Amino acid sequence: MKRELALFQKLTTEFLTKEIDEPVITPLQAESLWKDINISLQSEGVSEEEFEKILRDVVLNTPRTATNKFFNQLFGGRNPKATLGDLLAVILNNSMYTYKVAGPQVGIEIEIINRVCEIINYPKQSGGTITSGGSVSNLIAMLMARDKASPEVRYKSFQEKLIGYTSEASHYSIKKNAAICGVGTEQIRKIAIDEKGLLIPEALEEAIQKDITNNQKPFFINATAGTTVLGAFDPVEEIIKIAKKYNIWVHVDGAYCGSVIFSNKYKHLINGLEKADSFNFNAHKMIGTPLTCSVLVTRDKKYLYDSLSMEADYLYQTDGDDFNLGKTSLQCGRRNNALKFWTLWKSVGTKGLETIVDNQFMLADVARDYLKNHPNYTFYSYDESVSVCFNYKNIPADKLCTLLYEYAELVIGCGTFRENTFIRLVTVNPANYKEDIIDLFKTIENFVEKKKNLL
Ligand SMILES: Cc1ncc(COP(=O)(O)O)c(C=O)c1O
Repeated sequence: MKRELALFQKLTTEFLTKEIDEPVITPLQAESLWKDINISLQSEGVSEEEFEKILRDVVLNTPRTATNKFFNQLFGGRNPKATLGDLLAVILNNSMYTYKVAGPQVGIEIEIINRVCEIINYPKQSGGTITSGGSVSNLIAMLMARDKASPEVRYKSFQEKLIGYTSEASHYSIKKNAAICGVGTEQIRKIAIDEKGLLIPEALEEAIQKDITNNQKPFFINATAGTTVLGAFDPVEEIIKIAKKYNIWVHVDGAYCGSVIFSNKYKHLINGLEKADSFNFNAHKMIGTPLTCSVLVTRDKKYLYDSLSMEADYLYQTDGDDFNLGKTSLQCGRRNNALKFWTLWKSVGTKGLETIVDNQFMLADVARDYLKNHPNYTFYSYDESVSVCFNYKNIPADKLCTLLYEYAELVIGCGTFRENTFIRLVTVNPANYKEDIIDLFKTIENFVEKKKNLL
């Protein structure tokens, strides 16, 4: 292993230097990838020298997601303490299903869950699990809601049709999960949104009443804390009021921006969260742990057990259910995604997490100020959001984003809201400074000037 660790050190040192000199790589063409890099697998292994050379090719040609030029998805940066935690998780290679196999790692996951439940004022019987991502957290939330509304589904399949509700601007995983857990995509009502992308509570209640009149059974409402495109926060408090009236499970999907729970300044964006049946946030998005780490919590952990626990003599042989996390997990073998969040949290404290979150909003404010003061930009998004959407000189956003990527200038994507397609800047890299945001706009402006002929 020593040789591999030395190689790891060598390659990562090279990579980290390259990242600074060349933050955006010129992408290899997907069609010629097998020609450009020797990634094909053969019956014979390769020599150590060949192995190192190929691995270097792979590493140095991989898109660089930790740099100050990467804004494409809802994650970015590389927190050193969190990265250390993740590297240790690989070396330790535990599976989180039992205390016997994971020991203190189990305690670390429980500690994260407990602190999160405490921060959002969940009651004593609350609990949770760390999942591989927001989509899976949303799936477990839907499963809990399904099994609460129709407990017989687990044993005899569906005896009645269930209906779920989510806004038109919510993440696609809500619909996909309805397919996965047998509810059916057509049983998900897409509720209208207002001009800021927020679910309209009156439209939600109207849809619920209509379904009840038609003898359908509402079982699940998803409220989004940070919609994928605009970063908007649904009115959780009002949604919960409606849900209580009709006894429907409310899940708050905070995969993108649920980390506002750590900020005294921004936690009001999910007022009422303590009354939601379940909630998740991705530490790998706003907080900046390496992929992936999604924290899912529920007000009553009984529902996690009801939906996910199964007996297995060959697995659960020591310790109680509280320490055998496989009983509340979708998977059997499960990677340790807790340690990286814990190493970060332990090192900076809850106050440090608050600083990270507040800094992301501060960077978004910097971007909004810039856009408002530069008339060549059209501005589409709203305050108190870490998604800042805009167009430059009316250039089609998809074309500009693709060219910026192909010419290795910037990695940024576009989004659509109603009839507008725009560039979506997300301020989710905890390592970024104000200068990085200004630099992004300058990069776009200089590129457009330089490549006028292409646009
Ligand atoms: C609002 C929202 N929910 C869920 C997800 C899915 O999270 P993941 O990519 O971790 O599955 C995303 C991802 O962008 C999201 O924006």
